[in-house]
Amino acid sequence: MPDLPKRQLGRTGLQVTTLGYGAMEIRNRAERPSTDAEAERVLNAVLDAGINYIDTSIDYGESEERIGRYLASRRSEYYLASKCGCPVGEVGGMRAPHIFTAENVIAGVEQSLRRLQTDYLDLVQFHHSPSRAELMEGGLEALQDLQAQGKVRFIGMSGTIPNLKDQIEMGVFDVFQAPYSALQPEHEELIHEASEAGAGIVIRGGVARGDPARERGGFWDRWQEAEIDDLLDGMPRTEFLLRFTISNPNLDTTIVGTTNPEHLAQNVEAVLKGPLPAEVYEEAKRRVSTA
Ligand SMILES: NC(=O)c1ccc[n+]([C@@H]2O[C@H](COP(=O)([O-])OP(=O)(O)OC[C@H]3O[C@@H](n4cnc5c(N)ncnc54)[C@H](OP(=O)(O)O)[C@@H]3O)[C@@H](O)[C@H]2O)c1
Repeated sequence: MPDLPKRQLGRTGLQVTTLGYGAMEIRNRAERPSTDAEAERVLNAVLDAGINYIDTSIDYGESEERIGRYLASRRSEYYLASKCGCPVGEVGGMRAPHIFTAENVIAGVEQSLRRLQTDYLDLVQFHHSPSRAELMEGGLEALQDLQAQGKVRFIGMSGTIPNLKDQIEMGVFDVFQAPYSALQPEHEELIHEASEAGAGIVIRGGVARGDPARERGGFWDRWQEAEIDDLLDGMPRTEFLLRFTISNPNLDTTIVGTTNPEHLAQNVEAVLKGPLPAEVYEEAKRRVSTA
């Protein structure tokens, strides 16, 4: 199989595969159980497919520990990105309030290093899109100190509207992670702005969560309203969405999550086919913007 294409992650200079891996899905939940064996299989399949960028978080349950357990021996094969500001210890969880003090950021990074069985993280992103005022509670300075110590190579922001514009203007983030797809285009202009400012761009939600039944934001209605089915030309829906996402010239990698090796293989195939034809990409954008 040919190698996955790579793009430069902005000013970090890291050459990342256009398809990355979002490791949120390998957390175990009552509504979607994920076993150790399944996580081991999919994580190894990710690297075997040539993907070299993995995104995780303190908040994703067993995700960090499983990456450490199953992939520490292959650490040189992937760039590893986690988050900070998340509650540290057993209490974690995506919905819990995030704390951007120096103490919590340092404790979080140290915990991630232990769980991930590594002595450095390629990227640590502030989770939950904090405001400038929250970042000044000590967390930003603490992360910069951890960078000076070599525990963190680059500093990023998982940023969304309304704080994203100000975060770009701060000029201190090497990478921005933001949601984007044909069905969720709201951050497109700010993604462009961040990329123009030299930051690397990591896209999440690149397959719009794969299935209308799994998505809670209501954006799958746009698929029907914009009559995207007419543009598929025989392509499966997920292939269309993923190829639409990588058609965005500002994207460096998209961290698609899956626990299913068949879905992983389909996503690799889709990315190897490349971006959508320019006229199809433009037409889909036009339809979604006017639907
Ligand atoms: N605030 C933040 O920083 C934040 C928030 C959310 C997510 N994230 C990161 O972004 C990553 C991706 O985000 P996301 O999970 O929201 O969006 P996503 O990658 O668009 O969607 C993942 C979902 O799509 C399904 N899927 C993947 N490939 C498929 C295929 N070929 N066919 C059918 N279904 C497919 C997966 O289910 P199967 O397992 O069944 O394949 C999974 O449930 C996460 O893993 C996480 O690392 C960050």
